[in-house]
Amino acid sequence: MIIALDGPAASGKGTLARQLAEHFGLKHLDTGLTYRAVAAALLARGLPLGDEKLAISVAQNLDLGALDRNQLSAHEIGEAASRIAVLSGLREELVRLQRAFAESDEGAVLDGRDIGTVVCPNATAKLFVTAAPEARAKRRTDELQSKGIPAVFDEILEDLKRRDTRDSTRKDSPLLPASDAHLLDTTEMDIETAFKAAVDIVTRAAAA
Ligand code: C5P
Repeated sequence: MIIALDGPAASGKGTLARQLAEHFGLKHLDTGLTYRAVAAALLARGLPLGDEKLAISVAQNLDLGALDRNQLSAHEIGEAASRIAVLSGLREELVRLQRAFAESDEGAVLDGRDIGTVVCPNATAKLFVTAAPEARAKRRTDELQSKGIPAVFDEILEDLKRRDTRDSTRKDSPLLPASDAHLLDTTEMDIETAFKAAVDIVTRAAAA
């Protein structure tokens, strides 16, 4: 079984993906971390974000088992990840790694922007998780503040909108629901309600 979750930043897809993986006994890959890890490595070495060859060589040395969201969660890393995510050669390399993860025996849950459309077009179940930008910005602001990181709602909202626009309008693999994806709008849902709805969607898709 392969479960594909896509959606914009801070839509709740990451939390849902972790919970679904636990519920169905599957491995989980947060594919955003693969883009973040490449961006973080380039930033740390003061290297340019637009050099595709360099980005590809970093990607070729990625260890999927060593990706840690705590180390890659900084806002600037997310922004840099979205900037390098327009490089087609880099995407090709990362998609290759992501597919190898998805296609291993036990099945998997993958979350990202292009899982249902590009990485796993034959996934058992596809969910496109959305929420109003204001709801997403509020969640992200609360999350950062709860970790003691200063965060201003208006700035987070503007950043999320800019990132969504870049991710949705890029030529290669834009953020877009697959034609057979189930839409899950979590604007008015708490995480428990969203999780129940997601389990229901996956269970029905797996039975079909
Ligand atoms: O989900 P997360 O915020 O960690 O993703 C960081 C950036 O990586 C996104 O804004 C997007 O540009 C890129 N990304 C992507 N395709 C994916 C996952 C993430 O282009 N499958």
